[in-house]
Amino acid sequence: MSCEAEYFSKDFEWEELRAEIEANPCFRYHLLPFEPSSSLRQAETDVNAWEQFHSRHSSGKFFKERRYLVKEFPELLSCGENAVLEVGCGNGSTALPILRANKDVIVYACDCSSKSLERAQEVIGSATIGSFEDRIRTFCCDVSTNGFPQWLACNYCRNKFLLKQSNCMSESKEGNEPRFANTCSPEECDGCIGGVNFVTLIFTLSAVPVERMLRSITECFAVLKPGGMVFFRDYGLYDMTMLRFEQAKRVGFREYKRSDGTRSYFFCLDAVRDLFVGAGFTELELDYCCVKSVNRQQGKSMRRVWVHGKFQKPALV
Ligand SMILES: C[S@@+](CC[C@H](N)C(=O)[O-])C[C@H]1O[C@@H](n2cnc3c(N)ncnc32)[C@H](O)[C@@H]1O
Repeated sequence: MSCEAEYFSKDFEWEELRAEIEANPCFRYHLLPFEPSSSLRQAETDVNAWEQFHSRHSSGKFFKERRYLVKEFPELLSCGENAVLEVGCGNGSTALPILRANKDVIVYACDCSSKSLERAQEVIGSATIGSFEDRIRTFCCDVSTNGFPQWLACNYCRNKFLLKQSNCMSESKEGNEPRFANTCSPEECDGCIGGVNFVTLIFTLSAVPVERMLRSITECFAVLKPGGMVFFRDYGLYDMTMLRFEQAKRVGFREYKRSDGTRSYFFCLDAVRDLFVGAGFTELELDYCCVKSVNRQQGKSMRRVWVHGKFQKPALV
């Protein structure tokens, strides 16, 4: 099966899958409301789980380059010298194909796990075609709690965009000097890259606890230049891997914790839309990707569901 067939085709209708799953008593527990426990979730625990995950999978066997991404998001091919921020880069599965496909692009890749960043650097450093080291910058960051570092888009740069926008809208009076309250001066934002053109969120948001997802998306909004886009791909509701979770693994509504402590959420389109539109984005594309794949060893057909989305930060008028 070619990458194209694998990721673009609709092998089945999501509504038909939904009807089947919701009528099947074996899956009823997945549909039940979930009372969240009163104990506060520790962000540190989530980060540790990912750190351990990456320590265990440091052999590289887990690495699979997502070559289909540039077909799915062709803007990545033609974006010239633009900057892409890959959030939750893991071992570089998304960063590497972007670097390969576009020789001018600069990729800023972050992850909450420092182990994963070491691995991503190794993988990208040993990639055979071209030299990518000078076009990739990695940094450690938990997007759901601390947000991104100031040098991606400092307060001065953010407010400059905001002020430009509000000036355009209100046709402010001539002679008004721009003033940036409570922000750093142009000198202080030395080193700031002024925001990125694209953000990739590929199977990362599902790993973030539901209550911290909006904050994470808002952070992405803040570091994008006006007109910039987020490319989103993640687990979809009723994906085969969701249905495999036992009842005891539920930690929220449509949210599960694996035995290794990492978590996964399964998105319906409305949940994705609410998050992105709620953070200020405009929806450009949003759909389920429904693919049947066959496990040759077991001879079983598996129905995979992913959500594909493209969202834009409004451009300055
Ligand atoms: C399933 S992997 C996806 C990796 C990569 N984006 C790809 O395309 O393969 C999810 C990644 O998100 C990272 N992650 C989880 N929570 C995060 C957070 N709050 N902030 C930053 N990275 C996070 C994990 O360490 C992990 O590397």
